[in-house]
Amino acid sequence: MNFLAPYKDLKVVNFQCSWKSPSNIAFVKYWGKKGHQLPANPSLSMTLKECFTKTSVEFSPGDHLAVELFLEGERKDKFAHKIKTYLESLQSDLPWIKNLQLKIQTQNTFPHGTGIASSASGLSALALCLTDYLHQQTGEERNAHFFKRASLLSRLASGSACRSVYGGFASWGEESELFASPVEVHASMQTLNDAILVVSAEEKLVSSTAGHARLTDHPFAESRFNQARGNYKLLKVALLTGDMDALGMILENEALSLHAMMMTSPESFTLLKPLTLTAIEKIRAFRKETHLPLYFTLDAGPNLHLIYPHEGKTKIENFILDELRPLSVQLIHDQRGEGPEKC
Ligand code: PMV
Repeated sequence: MNFLAPYKDLKVVNFQCSWKSPSNIAFVKYWGKKGHQLPANPSLSMTLKECFTKTSVEFSPGDHLAVELFLEGERKDKFAHKIKTYLESLQSDLPWIKNLQLKIQTQNTFPHGTGIASSASGLSALALCLTDYLHQQTGEERNAHFFKRASLLSRLASGSACRSVYGGFASWGEESELFASPVEVHASMQTLNDAILVVSAEEKLVSSTAGHARLTDHPFAESRFNQARGNYKLLKVALLTGDMDALGMILENEALSLHAMMMTSPESFTLLKPLTLTAIEKIRAFRKETHLPLYFTLDAGPNLHLIYPHEGKTKIENFILDELRPLSVQLIHDQRGEGPEKC
């Protein structure tokens, strides 16, 4: 099914809408692409609650495609250009985009450079506004198709963004490679926490586009994709049965495999910082000593996402505050969230 076919012959009209969309943290990572924005392996993430982007879009007709973007009230021409390129890529399916003028106002609840994917929240918020525009013109309800379409439009902007359109947990690449789907989990997994330990707020050294590209000629690429496929199957079982220890093992294996791929690619990158490793050693020692379920994962950067359940939370949070917080420039408390909202 071509998800955009019903909208091919629309005309541009005046319309305005706003969406809040959260970031997500991948438990099994998408790292490596094939074809046009398709994943080399399935991935699965938890949608966050506190870390989100709020985006308002004004649509109006014009004689050419134009995008103006304001981030926290400041005009950002570089981001506007990226969005314009994304919209141009949709023109073969939606030819009327050539007459679209967009004014985008966007703001994040979290600071830049903290290892929280603003592309996931920001681009899913934009895709939700775009989907809202499509559905409003044809008078369709906001049903399951709405979110599949929003996920597909998010994916075309940034792969990981396609998982943010669902609350709780979402996977991409199993049911479909075109869009993400919600994942069922055990009740104990509905209250998972994610404390983000920012050990460095420096700009990322390598963009995710460049990171994905490192996998193309990587000698271990096929083994990595197979490992991710295996971890994905194990993770689904762990989430469904509420097996926190199995979940933790997968989280850490995925995080370190992502970084190992970066370090061993022909053009090597080390994104971990000495303090990342200090924190990892402390987490492992704490676990050995207390048997409490505190685990970590990482995105393509040095900052740790500390994942732990509701049960035993007080002791774990005391340890985080006493032993890990001093290693960081910032600690951001987050947890599993309910997904995007129209606002
Ligand atoms: O969505 P992209 O192209 O920025 O890729 C990001 C991939 C990771 O965040 C590193 C992992 C993931 O699955 O979210």
